[in-house]
Amino acid sequence: MNDRRAGLERPHMGYGLGLRAEHYDEVLAGAAGAQWFEALTDNYLDTEGRPLWVLEQVRRDYPLALHGVAMSLGGPDPLDRAYLERLKRLVDRMEPAIVSDHLCFSRVDGRNLFDLLPLPYTEEVLAHVIERVARVQDYLGRRILVENPSSYLAWKASDIPEAEFLAELARGADCGILLDVNNVYVSACNHGFDPREYLRTVPAERVGQIHLAGFTDMDGYLFDTHSRPVSDDVWDLYDYTLSLTGPVSSMVEWDADIPSWQRLVEELDKARAVAARRAANGGRGETG
Ligand SMILES: [Fe+2]
Repeated sequence: MNDRRAGLERPHMGYGLGLRAEHYDEVLAGAAGAQWFEALTDNYLDTEGRPLWVLEQVRRDYPLALHGVAMSLGGPDPLDRAYLERLKRLVDRMEPAIVSDHLCFSRVDGRNLFDLLPLPYTEEVLAHVIERVARVQDYLGRRILVENPSSYLAWKASDIPEAEFLAELARGADCGILLDVNNVYVSACNHGFDPREYLRTVPAERVGQIHLAGFTDMDGYLFDTHSRPVSDDVWDLYDYTLSLTGPVSSMVEWDADIPSWQRLVEELDKARAVAARRAANGGRGETG
């Protein structure tokens, strides 16, 4: 049976970290602190070398999420069949708990833009993305999670708020949501919307994973640099998110100026503390 038709399962895997080459040795040695790992799909598609071997070892010992950047789910080009074939081979081999990509476009006229660009949020684009996500899921034989982007510009043509667009996409394609709480905060500051209203609009029951990360403030514009600790405002939003979703597998993304393993675990422990406090306060429901 195609398991994605059986309802959205959201196993709580606990608290994870990105699998980065800088920490391969520690992870292989069984360093404590992370309960699961997220690997960047695209780094493992064209290799039979050490990275794939490491990934297999990690998968043997931990739940795994595969997070991609190249599906261009909202793009104007046809879906890249060759990319999907390579992805499916990796997914079938690793049997990850989660497969995800972004609500964005990243390829035009066959050229990779090397950026995750926001979509025009219109009914026409919504129908386009729903159809493509559904097709990807049918091809992979499983549900995927789609991540909300951080953005620095918006299309004049957009006439649907991003959170509503994401909600309609998730329901229409029957996919899950990878909710990046830092991205919500960054985009809310850059575009001037209320991040809590955004979080209330996202269908909580479809949130299968949460990203936390640090941003860089550049003269009032926030950039999702993944190079710093999670900000206090984002920790507050994380607590608010959990009040809506209940416990969700959560992880810290830290991809530039990568600190020591121990420092990453300290940051992840803050997520554990927020979630534990939320649970002690009665789990779901706002406590102010
Ligand atoms: Fe993210």
